[in-house]
Amino acid sequence: PKIVFIEHNGTHHVVDAPVGKSLMQVAVDNMVPGIVGDCGGCCSCATCHGYIEGEWADKLPPKQEDEEMMLDGALEVLPTSRLTCQVFIKEEYDGLTVKLPASQF
Ligand code: FES
Repeated sequence: PKIVFIEHNGTHHVVDAPVGKSLMQVAVDNMVPGIVGDCGGCCSCATCHGYIEGEWADKLPPKQEDEEMMLDGALEVLPTSRLTCQVFIKEEYDGLTVKLPASQF
């Protein structure tokens, strides 16, 4: 599926995402600025924070406890906030759009 990342400055990146990879890994693989992914995806850094746009926010599987806890430490957390390393691509996610925060730190 195609995933859309929107940088804080409005720059769009439309990338091909392999099923099973995390949103964080897809962003890093495509050199999308704005996702850091310091911990490599083990849910312990919160530098992969992103906002899930529109109806997608409700369609994704709910957060697990460790994601909730790490998100508490992120900046400007909104109801649509996710740690992108904890969201894994499914075939039906075509068009999923993630806005990136101004900063991960
Ligand atoms: Fe570290 Fe997601 S990459 S919490």
